[in-house]
Amino acid sequence: MFRTHTCGELGLANLNQEVTLAGWVQTLRKFGSITFVDLRDRYGITQLLLDETQHSSLAGSPLGREYVIQATGIVSERSSKNLQIPTGEIEIKVGKIVILNKSVTPPFTIQDDTDGGDDLRMKFRYLDLRRQVVKKNIELRYAVNRAARNYLHQKHFIDIETPFLIKSTPEGARDFVVPSRMNAGQFYALPQSPQTFKQLLMVSGYDRYYQVVKCFRDEDLRADRQPEFTQIDCEMSFIEQNDILEMFEGLIKYIFKEVKGIEYKGEIERMTWEDAMWVYGNDKPDIRFDMKIANLKSPIKRKGAVEAGGWIIANAGFPVFDNAETVLAISVPGGATWTRKQFDELTDWVKRPQIGMQGLVYIRYNEDGTIKSSVDKFYSEEKLLSIASYCQSQKGDVILILAGREEKTRKAISDLRLELGERLGLRKKDEYTLLWVLDFPLFEYSEEDNRWVARHHPFTAPKPDQISTMINHDPVISNPELYLEHPYANIKANAYDMVLNGNEIGGGSIRIYQRELQEKMFDALGMTREEANHKFGFLLGAFEYGAPPHGGIAFGFDRLCAILGGSESIRDFIAFPKNNSGRDVMLDAPSTIDEKQLRELFIEIRTEK
Ligand code: AMO
Repeated sequence: MFRTHTCGELGLANLNQEVTLAGWVQTLRKFGSITFVDLRDRYGITQLLLDETQHSSLAGSPLGREYVIQATGIVSERSSKNLQIPTGEIEIKVGKIVILNKSVTPPFTIQDDTDGGDDLRMKFRYLDLRRQVVKKNIELRYAVNRAARNYLHQKHFIDIETPFLIKSTPEGARDFVVPSRMNAGQFYALPQSPQTFKQLLMVSGYDRYYQVVKCFRDEDLRADRQPEFTQIDCEMSFIEQNDILEMFEGLIKYIFKEVKGIEYKGEIERMTWEDAMWVYGNDKPDIRFDMKIANLKSPIKRKGAVEAGGWIIANAGFPVFDNAETVLAISVPGGATWTRKQFDELTDWVKRPQIGMQGLVYIRYNEDGTIKSSVDKFYSEEKLLSIASYCQSQKGDVILILAGREEKTRKAISDLRLELGERLGLRKKDEYTLLWVLDFPLFEYSEEDNRWVARHHPFTAPKPDQISTMINHDPVISNPELYLEHPYANIKANAYDMVLNGNEIGGGSIRIYQRELQEKMFDALGMTREEANHKFGFLLGAFEYGAPPHGGIAFGFDRLCAILGGSESIRDFIAFPKNNSGRDVMLDAPSTIDEKQLRELFIEIRTEK
């Protein structure tokens, strides 16, 4: 036997047993001829004690870090115990040691708090993966994968693989393409998701499908985006929206229970897209904390939003507010005592190019009930108090106000809210709050092309009561200035996103399953019938052979793992990730290919930009 035990399991119960362990030398501590070795494997660390004078095999060839060794010896009680690790009460008095393989000095220390920078660790990712912190992430990923599969299997979903060499699936990003040697001048696209295949499987009668599957999207990368990432992709037939929401609430709760031991209590809150935008300023709100947005200029009322009062700030002679398209405020607990310096710093924060606001107005609602603002000149104390009441502020709060163009200001106040939530410790890593966001707009307007684009994807159905609006109206936008008045601007999609702590972890929709409506959708997106047939003839054709009503969802598996693991970056949860330029620095990919390969593929490289 190569080893009798692993490095994570021995304790006082094994005293005096002879054991054999195998693993990597994590650290060496020498005291004269005595050496303590921390031996590491996947399961943990065990201390070895060896007297080098007794090991002739080590003569002239001492151990080094990351050497692979096999050690046989007796389990003994340690004189100085380390109760931080499970094996910390024992050590192995080594009788026999074999060096299985040497190692050159690693480029960084293979410990939790390593001295290796990001790039170096990615270049030597196989060494980075030896670190316990990374290993824990990879194990968590497997646990999430296993839990998802168990749940879906119990619910009669079956895992069906779909091809990678396909024709474009429009999910809003650019395609990665693969040239075909056997079909000169032609290219496959890698799937941005298995969307059309899972719908075809519904037409084929496999009414509950899932796949833990790679998706490929050529888009700008961020901490929560990789060019190849994994989805838990699901589709069901003979369902309505509520069936999907319930089924996948079940999935996510099961994952919480299995992976984190958390019993997620109660229903998952459901919020319309419009309410999310109104109350939190974005479509994936972090609802772990309040600080709801008050619109000081609009009289429109929305569920959950603070009471409306467009009159509040109207025409007080303060041009910044009077001239702004919108004026939005949040009330921050405890902010009344902030110093001038803190306000200046926050003002600089909103003026940064990423946020792009002109300035920040504040109203201090002091504990003693007095109120002071940076715009006292324009607003009486009475007026300021009514603003505070409108913002549902408590004594001790500060009201922060941004003014400007609608879209930009909404995004800015949402970013400011999240930033303050972070600074005030309201976004706790170990507190999980799920949310469904529903009823997204079906279309977005593309100014560049003066046409509609699908907000989710072109296979998403409108809400049932809005199908006729779609069928009965011409999608053409005759006056771009008035696109908001076009009936299509108000059509809501039968779509839903699942949001966890302010991150979109999944999204899906009820699908179109009739050829006529699908054709109308392609018309709306500005495709000619020929184009639609060229790109999606297979799907339109399938819809003529008894397509059942169906819908589905896909979860961002990497994102889900990262959040459950308490990290911002999905890279930490992917064994071999790409960097922010889409490069695998370990492989040095992408790279050029040789002339012969290019010729076989009928490809000539153009050097001009
Ligand atoms: P969608 O495009 O919303 O839907 O993707 C589903 C989920 O995948 C995750 N995600 C990503 N994760 C990492 N890197 C990326 N580049 C990336 N892009 C998306 C997100 C997202 O919520 N076919 C539809 C699903 C459906 O309609 O059933 C789709 O792909 O967490």
